[in-house]
Amino acid sequence: MITEEKIESSLKSLFETLEFTKEPAGLYDPLRYMISISGKRLRPRLCLTAYGLFKDEFNEEILQPAAALEVFHNFTLIHDDIMDKSPLRRGVPTVWVKWKEDTAILSGDVMLIDAYQRVAKAPADRLPAVLKLFSDTAAQVCDGQQYDMDFENRPFVGMNEYMEMIGLKTGVLIACAAKMGAVIAGASEEDCRNLYDYAYTLGLAFQIADDYLDAYGDVKVFGKPIGGDIVNNKKCWLTTRAIEKADEALRAEIIDALDMPVGTDAEKAAKVSRFMGFYDALGIREDALGAIRDLNEKAIGFASRVSVSAEGHAQLVNFANRLIGRTK
Ligand code: IPE
Ligand code: IPE
Ligand code: MG
Ligand code: MG
Ligand code: MG
Repeated sequence: MITEEKIESSLKSLFETLEFTKEPAGLYDPLRYMISISGKRLRPRLCLTAYGLFKDEFNEEILQPAAALEVFHNFTLIHDDIMDKSPLRRGVPTVWVKWKEDTAILSGDVMLIDAYQRVAKAPADRLPAVLKLFSDTAAQVCDGQQYDMDFENRPFVGMNEYMEMIGLKTGVLIACAAKMGAVIAGASEEDCRNLYDYAYTLGLAFQIADDYLDAYGDVKVFGKPIGGDIVNNKKCWLTTRAIEKADEALRAEIIDALDMPVGTDAEKAAKVSRFMGFYDALGIREDALGAIRDLNEKAIGFASRVSVSAEGHAQLVNFANRLIGRTK
């Protein structure tokens, strides 16, 4: 098995030395920018963690697929920021703001291709399984992103529909990261499945935490604008839960408030504060923290079924606790 220290140092050197095509700069500069402003890198970290449960050292056959997950993730973020009209990510301007939308679209596209080239470095005998996993996942992320946008235009979205949507847009990629590491390491089907379920469930908790921070986070730490989900009429966990929990009269008020204008900064602020008022009145903040805790426990349950040493289980538990304790 591979220690957490070794995973961290490998991750660091992997991204320090990652090479991308140089020209044309207009296409590849946004890609380099996105990778250099560096997020939490949790997907490659999880892929390496899952692999390290079954193997004793890293080589390019796992490092490049792990990098692919981060490149793919960053591609989805570049396009997501266009879709969500978001000006800020990781505390700096988003690609569509810094360059322009058409550049952001094309740079995103080439990142998807770069990701495939790196996934293709998986060991030849595992490649068909790895490619199927990755392609199925990538298509599901698109499905999830479409539901996310469709839901903006619907007054009412049930909690089950919301959970399915976040499972697609966020859960499956985190699940894919864990499973890909295990598959490349040659783990048993059962271990691959439990690692997938563990990471999928964590991914749900992670997205609820993201929705929570979108309202309650600190912009300096979170690195994204606070209140963006409310302004965009996102059926985030908080609003979905508020509509579910409110009595008939309050529910009608919340649904009406979705039509509040957001043309000016003052209008945006008024809408955000109105929704925060609904959340406060209904105890939604506490409910969100409870939902995150419950999913974390459920995820740890799946982890405990993976046939590895106590040390291996401890790594999975640590990873889960760090993930849901996120402030950024
Ligand atoms: C942001 O993902 C998109 C979501 C799925 C919530 P991360 O929170 O992993 O973003 P970075 O890569 O660390 O910036
Ligand atoms: C994004 O969900 C999920 C994907 C990028 C696939 P969000 O729209 O909530 O992510 P952030 O908050 O912009 O990072
Ligand atoms: Mg989005
Ligand atoms: Mg977004
Ligand atoms: Mg978000």
